Amino acid sequence: MEIIPMSIYTLLFLIALLPPLLSRKPFTFYISKKAYPNAIVKSDIFLKINNTISYIWAFIFALSFILVQIQYSLYSTTNILISNGIAFLAQILIGIPISIYLPKYFMKQPNSKIKFDSLKDAFESMPYGLNKELAKNVDVVVQFELTGNEEQKSHLIIKNQKCEYISGLHNNPTVTIKADSKLWLDITNGDIDSVKAYLDKKYEMIGDASIMLNFDKFFDNSASIENMKDRTKDYNYKSFKPKKIKNIVVFDGGARNKKLSKTTLMVDKFIEGASSAGANVEEYKLSKLNIHQCDGCYMCWTNIPGQCVHKDIMIELREKYRSADLVVFASPLYIFNVTGIMKTFMDRLLPILKPYMLLDEKDWHISHPDRFPEFGEQGMVVFSASGFPDVDGNFDGLKGMYRAWASHSQNSYLMGEFFLTASEMLPQPVYKSRKDLVEQSCFNAGVQVVNDGYIDYQYMANVSNPKVNNKTFQNQADNFWANLDGKKSYLKEIIKL
Ligand SMILES: Cc1cc2nc3c(=O)[nH]c(=O)nc-3n(C[C@H](O)[C@H](O)[C@H](O)COP(=O)(O)O)c2cc1C
Repeated sequence: MEIIPMSIYTLLFLIALLPPLLSRKPFTFYISKKAYPNAIVKSDIFLKINNTISYIWAFIFALSFILVQIQYSLYSTTNILISNGIAFLAQILIGIPISIYLPKYFMKQPNSKIKFDSLKDAFESMPYGLNKELAKNVDVVVQFELTGNEEQKSHLIIKNQKCEYISGLHNNPTVTIKADSKLWLDITNGDIDSVKAYLDKKYEMIGDASIMLNFDKFFDNSASIENMKDRTKDYNYKSFKPKKIKNIVVFDGGARNKKLSKTTLMVDKFIEGASSAGANVEEYKLSKLNIHQCDGCYMCWTNIPGQCVHKDIMIELREKYRSADLVVFASPLYIFNVTGIMKTFMDRLLPILKPYMLLDEKDWHISHPDRFPEFGEQGMVVFSASGFPDVDGNFDGLKGMYRAWASHSQNSYLMGEFFLTASEMLPQPVYKSRKDLVEQSCFNAGVQVVNDGYIDYQYMANVSNPKVNNKTFQNQADNFWANLDGKKSYLKEIIKL
């Protein structure tokens, strides 16, 4: 005897199996539809999820049908309790997780995005479609002032991994979108690229528009955070005692001037911060100097120890280099490394080392001794800007060179590395808040290195983290270059300045 008779399990099995099999709506559809707005309920993906869940319930009921018939004990009461208990347990253990996780799994699949017939449907569905992983730490109000078919004034609040759609205007929105409602529907449905439409001046954004760079991703549950990950710390940066850094020397190996160089943009802010904290800063723009290439003659290690056969500006630069408390290396990323002039400058630093071998018997690390140990310990900071949006792979060469240089310099230590990715996008208005964050982080790092003798890793991460995924970046970059193709305006601007 069983508590729930076998005939009931047979009935439940048929109720679960037959509707989807006969192309009718499954029973779970009628239960779950109460929790969602109409636009979601009428979507294909909603039906697909419910059909699948219904088939799984059919399987669970069939399993229960079998489980209640198994004889576990000779005592009928014990047997009834065990067989029904196991069947019940199977229903809970399989049924509940499936009902919770299967919809999430389906929504993560590519092409799971729902196409909406109207903006009303789209806005009402947004609270349900928020990608919570991406929306973590997001706190914004997006205001819509839409004209045309579905004219409206409304706003979306995205906060605490929740999204709320409210009719009417907000008095302090983060960003306001002024657009035609049909255009915004096409953008929402992914039929028109929002960045391209913006650059083509098809709609207006007022305020901090950086959130809009990834707006569609926030409602696409197949979008992954992988592509937008923060940079993670992989180096033990050096700290000194507070107030140790007093004299700073900057070697800028970039070709461009202050107006265009994103490397210089970071360095300038860093210097501003350091100077405001009382440091004395000297700057050298290497491309403006006449630096002879190293001949590899080793005269600096033999005939004229510590000097070079080339009597050029490097005499002064080497002295400035070794006597500084902090050396700043600044170079744009050119073919995955520093610029040619910066490399020439690095090569010409050889005289500050002695030729002998210094062996650390703890880790068998081998290097050359410092020729001028009387100057004591010094820090080094690296700044570089790249076109591509990633640090890994892209900066490996440049980073590897400076890290090796630091580990082979007896008294010089790396205190920080600032790798600005996707830097050519920075002047665009949609990146305003990112630019502010980059500038503020570099400034703060400058203040901190002087006052406290170290640099918070978060400042470096703020600079490297583009918070834009590669797809959006591709659209923006392609659009940028397509606009300039054949016009030479970008080139002209560089030459003119
Ligand atoms: C010759 C050359 C090589 C470049 N190589 C790379 C590269 O390997 N990786 C990258 O991400 N960007 C590369 N870029 C793009 C620059 O890093 C990017 O324009 C950056 O903003 C330059 O820094 P700057 O603004 O300080 O001059 C290259 C640019 C040039 C002109």
